Amino acid sequence: MLDIVVGTQYGDEGKGRVVHNLALNGHYLAAVRAQGGNNAGHTVVHENVTYKLNLLPTSVLVGKPGFLGRGMVLDLDVLVKEISGLKEKGIHPSLRIDSRAHVIMPWHKDLDSLNEKGNGSYAAGSTGRGIGPVYGSKHDRTGVRLADFFDDSARVEALVQKYATRVAYESEQDYSSLVDRYTVEIRTLVDKTKFLTDSLCDVSQEIYDDLILGNNILGECAQAEMLDVDGPYYPRGTSSGTSAVAFWNGIGVYPKKEFAGKVIGVAKAYTTRVGKGPFVTEIEGSFADDIRERGGEYGTTTGRARRVGWLDLPMIKHSLVSSGLDSLAITKIDILGGMDEIPVAVYYKNGNKIPCLNYEKKIPVYETMLGWPAFTTKDYRRQFENGIDYIPNISLREYLQKIEREVGVPIKIITFGQDSKAFISYM
Ligand code: IMP
Ligand code: MG
Repeated sequence: MLDIVVGTQYGDEGKGRVVHNLALNGHYLAAVRAQGGNNAGHTVVHENVTYKLNLLPTSVLVGKPGFLGRGMVLDLDVLVKEISGLKEKGIHPSLRIDSRAHVIMPWHKDLDSLNEKGNGSYAAGSTGRGIGPVYGSKHDRTGVRLADFFDDSARVEALVQKYATRVAYESEQDYSSLVDRYTVEIRTLVDKTKFLTDSLCDVSQEIYDDLILGNNILGECAQAEMLDVDGPYYPRGTSSGTSAVAFWNGIGVYPKKEFAGKVIGVAKAYTTRVGKGPFVTEIEGSFADDIRERGGEYGTTTGRARRVGWLDLPMIKHSLVSSGLDSLAITKIDILGGMDEIPVAVYYKNGNKIPCLNYEKKIPVYETMLGWPAFTTKDYRRQFENGIDYIPNISLREYLQKIEREVGVPIKIITFGQDSKAFISYM
């Protein structure tokens, strides 16, 4: 079956780290990504070494194959660097890449910044990786799939001219210099990436075959529910579907009931958002600074300081609809250790439903929970070893039980540090 790990907030909940830990336990054959590109960033500590992955599923760190599904968008330069970076550290990732995944072309990055400028106050604070434009090209049928990139130079040449015209017009640059730059960049890239053609395949068919045989596969979503292009915050999100329902489309397999496993919704014990857009439980000042420092809340991809806020439970509940959560993974609970009181948003004064209507004006109503001591990893393990309802510290138990009660699904995973030992699963 295919289990899916999905983010329930604004991204950076720790999906990659959860996938890594789950991949370690031997139950899964491989992991697969279905959407997004190197706008995603996963920081994972494996055998005391810190890895920052943008494109590859974190399963590759434990020697399990990684599939890159047809719904992904690939910056091939970044992909090559990620692969060689791993090889330098002694990890040789086994990859299967769908030849229908779209390539981020040089003009997509140029257009990303032009679009952001043009969007004014509706700009998303894009990571600048060309994600919006590449999905735009895909849908208006002027995109370049991997198959075209390696096999259809006439099409690529025509697109160079088309997009150079557009970028020249929008940025007041010289058309011929743009054509030259794009042509050289593409030629260099084709040479550097030829070896990838050995990994190209129909990922849908391969995953289908694996699932038919009864193998278990782990689905690693990127970004998160609140950034979904069809979610409540459009246009202040990313450009792909990010929920579990979109995941199946991104791998191109129908979720027959013998295929559809569990969906694990990942939520940080508080909330962060990088980039622009609404954030109703956002806090500023010394509390926020303190959490940001302790939690290392700086973007893996861009290094930007993340905005910080309290846990927003109505937001997490939103994922019940689009991702059908079976359980929750609560990450970074240790970052809150040592605080006297912790507010949690339990509902919105003006209604919890239909968040796409006036979401920005939602007024959160908080309940204040009592804090718990700053436990060590070993102490946390002791707290969690017998299950949520048997956590000895009352405040810690009540914080987690509150989440379970309000969201209505059980917590099956808790993380309390970066090390793989700072992880407990009740699955
Ligand atoms: P884009 O996907 O690069 O176009 O960025 C659009 C918005 O989504 C910006 O606010 C980004 O900061 C945000 N975003 C995109 N990917 C991620 C992610 O993996 N984690 C957190 N935020 C992200
Ligand atoms: Mg991230």
